[in-house]
Amino acid sequence: MSPKYTYIGHGTHLLQTGGHTLIIDPFINGNPATTLTVDDVECNFILVTHGHGDHVGDAVAIAQRTGAPCIANAKVCKWLEAQGAPKTHNIYFGGWQTFPFGRLKMTIAFHGSSLPDGSDGGSPGGYLMETNEKERIYFAGDTALFGDMALIGEEGLDLAVLPIGDHYTMGPDDALRAVKLLIPKHVVPSHYNTWPVVAQDGEAWAKRVKAETKATPHVLKPGESVTL
Ligand code: NI
Ligand code: MN
Repeated sequence: MSPKYTYIGHGTHLLQTGGHTLIIDPFINGNPATTLTVDDVECNFILVTHGHGDHVGDAVAIAQRTGAPCIANAKVCKWLEAQGAPKTHNIYFGGWQTFPFGRLKMTIAFHGSSLPDGSDGGSPGGYLMETNEKERIYFAGDTALFGDMALIGEEGLDLAVLPIGDHYTMGPDDALRAVKLLIPKHVVPSHYNTWPVVAQDGEAWAKRVKAETKATPHVLKPGESVTL
């Protein structure tokens, strides 16, 4: 069965693949882009890209209720455990790790990672996922454009989920350059229109993606999905 991606809103994503449900950066409480509540979230795995509050979000509450393990770098894992997450799993840059839903590799990101209480959240990252059916999905996390996206692109991407909000991350111009380096079949813009500081025109960006690349852009409203 093909994986189904749902844009929860801002930097929060849901992926359903082979009977597993993963939430990436579960920012629900205080996220202006979603009407979900923390109790609405059902998942088997929680992935966290970095320590910022709009990414660790409600990971602990969701982990406690669902029993889902949190996957993140070692410092974020240690912090989540200290806050009460029942199970965590460390991941490091560059090595594949195998999980019931497929394989996962942490990718680099140029950004910060301080945790909500100011403690050090290690290095920020993104995730390259390969489902059990071999579809490859790249969640960039919060990042600037970097040239090594070309190396991630060489892995062959079915879907790339990229920030376009500007200010904290790549804006539309650099996200378009990212699509040219990553060469994904499908691309979803994220991390924009949450607050005025990251206001962007997703449809205008999608038009540029269509005109200048072979990728198919999907401009999703919070709660909307695309099946690969
Ligand atoms: Ni951030
Ligand atoms: Mn963010």
